[in-house]
Amino acid sequence: MERERWATKIGLILAMAGNAIGLGNFLRFPVQATQNGGGAFMIPYIISFLLIGIPLMWIEWAIGRWGGSRGHGTTPGIFYEIKRNNLLRVLGVFGLWIPLVVVIYYTYIESWTLGYALKFLMGSVPKVVGENFLEPFRNFLVSYKGEGQTFLKPSLYAYIIFVITFLINILILIRGVSGGIEKFVKFAMPLLFLLAIFLVFKVFLLQTEKGSAVEGLNFLWEPDFRALKDPKVWISAAGQVFFTLSLGFGAIITYASYLKRDDDITLSGLTASSLNEFAEVILGGSLAIPAAVAFFGVKEAVEVAKSGAFDLGFVSLPAIFSTIEGGNFLGFAWFFLLFIAGLTSSIALTQPIIAFFEDEFKMERKTAVLISGSIIFLSSQAVIFIKGFLEEMDFWAGTIAVVFFSLVEIVLFTWFFKGDPYEEINRGGIIKMPRLYLFIMKYITPLFLLALLFIWGISAIPQILKESKWTLWVARFYMLCLFLLLTLLVFLAPKVSKRET
Ligand code: ALA
Repeated sequence: MERERWATKIGLILAMAGNAIGLGNFLRFPVQATQNGGGAFMIPYIISFLLIGIPLMWIEWAIGRWGGSRGHGTTPGIFYEIKRNNLLRVLGVFGLWIPLVVVIYYTYIESWTLGYALKFLMGSVPKVVGENFLEPFRNFLVSYKGEGQTFLKPSLYAYIIFVITFLINILILIRGVSGGIEKFVKFAMPLLFLLAIFLVFKVFLLQTEKGSAVEGLNFLWEPDFRALKDPKVWISAAGQVFFTLSLGFGAIITYASYLKRDDDITLSGLTASSLNEFAEVILGGSLAIPAAVAFFGVKEAVEVAKSGAFDLGFVSLPAIFSTIEGGNFLGFAWFFLLFIAGLTSSIALTQPIIAFFEDEFKMERKTAVLISGSIIFLSSQAVIFIKGFLEEMDFWAGTIAVVFFSLVEIVLFTWFFKGDPYEEINRGGIIKMPRLYLFIMKYITPLFLLALLFIWGISAIPQILKESKWTLWVARFYMLCLFLLLTLLVFLAPKVSKRET
């Protein structure tokens, strides 16, 4: 069976940009930046982007293109082609497990954005009155997703919207890589940028007696060199770079596997990553933070960001919009922007498991999508109804495992790759990767990643493991079962094909 290919270069770049640009750019970034002191966050962020983001991005594109031309779109097969070693195959399972676990909770959050967008469109959002105007939207969020000690009871509306969101993902994916994903992003990505630019203009006009949007921008862009000494800021910044560029997720590798053998990756990869950074620091950085600072002042905006990962995007921004003229439309535009951003990422996160079934089991696309979809849909039920599943999955898969897996990728590619890694990245390239980057890839990035893992190993991980609530252990056990299931499938898959296309 012939593997699919991207039909156009613009389609490929938009798909890769859509893969990266997601909820992370507009929700996670402002929260991380605000929690870590605004200008203090940006220096470690930019350094992490240059030392981790760019090298890993090129490596993932190169690994994917190399694997695709040998019939593999996912890492168990690709790693085994690089070195015939079963341990590497098991390590490759992370490239299936991470996107699978992330998409299980990601699609649910994505569905909230559609649910909120439609509520704003219908005008059925809380009315904000008086001083304490965050309260109505806080309660709104709680009743939307449900609260509880152990089990959550989301509203029926939230559940129905989740099913619709899930089906939209499936409908795009079932049409294939160029017929579904590529066609969709060609229309969705320009819409995403238009919506974001429109909202940025609106936010720039915000001003109250407590502050202005410009003060919010100053807060983000005034460098604070003292923070360079704080490991927590470095960890948050590096973690954000991973999440926003979808690095270590396996998803970039799978998308790159649909490139042709000599297609450019140096310039295309840089373009897609630059689009992501534009969407993150320029657009994402000009929305939630400036709006919150304009309404609450810097100090209170920081408090809002600290009070929860979703408070800035799902509570303060909608509350702000609902107080200004045309607020319902602005609220709709904000959440619809998030929805499009989330959707272009969730399809990318689902593609690896689909590609695995197609490539290694030679399944028809439809069957592969239906099996993958069923696993995701069933697993999502735990995220929807059991408290703590979402955060637990985000910590282990979306934060820790991506760094570990990136380290595996980078060491394997720069130290054990059969060919010359520098030549492999530059083959067919419109520009040449600077040689300095080979040095960075071989030594600097792995050391940086090791340091991150070490700090987590002694700080965050023991702390999380102390949380002894039984539901969290169920979540951990469930993730382990998924890993074992995928490992079993990898070893059941027919002998690795050596087909060169
Ligand atoms: N890179 C994706 C995001 O930013 C996962 O949301």
